[in-house]
Amino acid sequence: MTIDLTGSVAWVTGGASGIGRAIVGTLAGAGARVVSLDIGHRDAGETDGIATVALDVRDPAAVATVTADLAARGLEPDVLVNDAGITRDGVVWKLSDADWDAVLDVNLGGAFRMTRAVAPFMRARRRGAIVNIASINGLRGKFGQANYAASKGGLIAFTRAVAKELARERVRVNAVAPGFIDTPMTRALPEPVLAQARAEAVLGRLGDPADIAHAVLFLVSPLASHITGQVLVVDGGQTI
Ligand code: NAI
Repeated sequence: MTIDLTGSVAWVTGGASGIGRAIVGTLAGAGARVVSLDIGHRDAGETDGIATVALDVRDPAAVATVTADLAARGLEPDVLVNDAGITRDGVVWKLSDADWDAVLDVNLGGAFRMTRAVAPFMRARRRGAIVNIASINGLRGKFGQANYAASKGGLIAFTRAVAKELARERVRVNAVAPGFIDTPMTRALPEPVLAQARAEAVLGRLGDPADIAHAVLFLVSPLASHITGQVLVVDGGQTI
C-alpha cells in the first residue's frame, strides 16, 4: 500500500530546516505540491514541486498577504503543517518577558494565524488536514522550558478545539508530539542533555526528522480519515 498525495497542495511552516524540511521532502515525495513557508527562506521560487516563500508567522498582515498570493497562484491548501518553532530556555524565575512572548508568539500564535488563514479554503471545499507539531514537553513539562512547554501544551489544546470547529466540513486537525529529534534546534544542546534523551528512549536512539515526517504523512493521508483531535507521540518510548 502506498500513500499518493498527487493533486493535493500542502503548506508547511518552518520548512527550511530540521523536521520541517523532512516534512516538505516527504510530502513532495508522496506527490503533493508543497509550499515551504519559513522566515529563513531568502528567495521565492519553485523547483520539483516545492515552492519556497519567505514568511514570518508572527506577522498577521504577512500571513494574509501570502495566503492571498498563493491562492491566486492556484495553490489553495489541502494540507497545513504548523512546524515553525523556537526555544528560549530558562528557569521560570529568570525568564524574561521577551523570551516568554517570543516563544508563545511563534509556536502558538503562528499556528493560530496560519490555521485562521487556511480554514476558509478548507471549509469551502469541505476537505483538508492540519497537523500541528507539538512536543512531548507540552505533555509532561520540562525543566527550563516553562515558555516552550506552555506553547506546546497550548498547541495541543488548540488542536482539539479546532478539530471540533472544523469537523462539520470534514477538515481533520491533529498533532504530532515528537520526543528528542536530531536537528539544528537540538544539536546546540550540551552532551548531558543528549545523553538523558538517549537514556529515556527505550528504542535506544535519538529520533530522526524522517520519523516525524512519516507520522505527518500518515495523518494527512486518507489512511487517517477517521482520526481527528489526536496527539500522536513519536518519541522512541521516551515518555513510557
Ligand atoms: P529547527 O530550528 O531546525 O527548524 C525550525 C524552523 O522554523 C526554522 O527553519 C526556522 O527558520 C523556522 N522559524 C522560526 N521562527 C519562524 C517564524 N517566526 N516564522 C516562520 N518560520 C520560523 O527546529 P526543529 O528541531 O526542526 O523543530 C521543528 C518543530 O518541531 C518546532 O516546532 C519544534 O518545537 C518541534 N519539536 C522539535 C523537537 C526536536 O527535538 N528537535 C522535539 C519536539 C518538537
